[in-house]
Amino acid sequence: MEKLTRERPLSQTIDKDGAHSGDAFPRMRLRRLRSSSTLRAMVRETHVRAEQMIYPLFLVEGEGIKKPISSMPGIHQQSIDEALREIEECVNEGLQSIILFGVPRDKDTEATGAWSDKGIVQEATRRIKKHFPELMVVADTCLCEYMSHGHCGIVADGQILNDPSVQILARAAVSQARAGADIIAPSDMMDGRVAAIRSALDENGFEHVPIMAYSAKFSSAMYGPFREAAESAPQFGDRTTYQMDPANRREALREIELDLKEGADMVMVKPALLYLDLIREAREMTRVPIAAYNVSGEYAMVKAAAEKGWLDEKRVVQETLTSIVRAGADLIITYHARDMARWLQE
Ligand code: PBG
Ligand code: ZN
Repeated sequence: MEKLTRERPLSQTIDKDGAHSGDAFPRMRLRRLRSSSTLRAMVRETHVRAEQMIYPLFLVEGEGIKKPISSMPGIHQQSIDEALREIEECVNEGLQSIILFGVPRDKDTEATGAWSDKGIVQEATRRIKKHFPELMVVADTCLCEYMSHGHCGIVADGQILNDPSVQILARAAVSQARAGADIIAPSDMMDGRVAAIRSALDENGFEHVPIMAYSAKFSSAMYGPFREAAESAPQFGDRTTYQMDPANRREALREIELDLKEGADMVMVKPALLYLDLIREAREMTRVPIAAYNVSGEYAMVKAAAEKGWLDEKRVVQETLTSIVRAGADLIITYHARDMARWLQE
């Protein structure tokens, strides 16, 4: 060994992992570093932290309402008073951020509930920030929950119009910021909405409010349970003319590039698990924080298998969230956030 290293230049004997090139098995044994849980913890490369998880809440009008969503065990539609109670538990569990979705009683064709200062998300934001000023409140900015037809934009002659939708989205974002939202998260996939929202926020004195853009949002079959929770299923057609084709990797990178040019502070890949490759590519392409949305269908699959006793829920969730972070996500929107936060405290 002595002789070998002296005879060859160092660069040839030590590869990039620090292993001596002559040191194959049996001298080199990777199992050595796996021999005890203490040692495994010391060399563990990826950690999920409570601070990087964002927990979604579905808000309805009224009081004392807490209605379970059948396809998402543990998740509810709830009135603001009930949400405040749950948020208190979230904070005690170590969570620091939530994302709000509104489920208004009245829907129309202008998405009035999305941009009205009296909208459910605006009202909830004001009350939540009053009680929990430190909590990061992310406002999902979209129109589908507020539209009678369930699409994410203005509809005319069966078409989802881009530019008029962008105007309304910008208005919704300003109204959410005015209510105290800390982060604006447009999820509609209209072209040009990040730039329009940035300008509108700046013109109204919210230049300090960041935008977390749902940049690479795919037209996925994994949103089914969410649409039950948010009552936002499209009443005709589907979302394939605005959300992305799951087959398109290069186009996803273009979406991310464009949103960054338009002023996004953070970008998102959604769903997370079926698109881990894109989380990794996004991570390598940009230096901005990357969010991943571990969506409702991904949650429902784990829950259903766990309820049947087919999977160990805790281990699956830990592995799932670790994989999303390992792929390159800085932030994870996940319905598992409360369970995970509790397990992290154990
Ligand atoms: C609405 C929106 C959706 C989700 C987040 N915001 C659904 C959709 O596009 O139909 C999905 C989240 C989930 O499935 O958990 N624009
Ligand atoms: Zn939408």
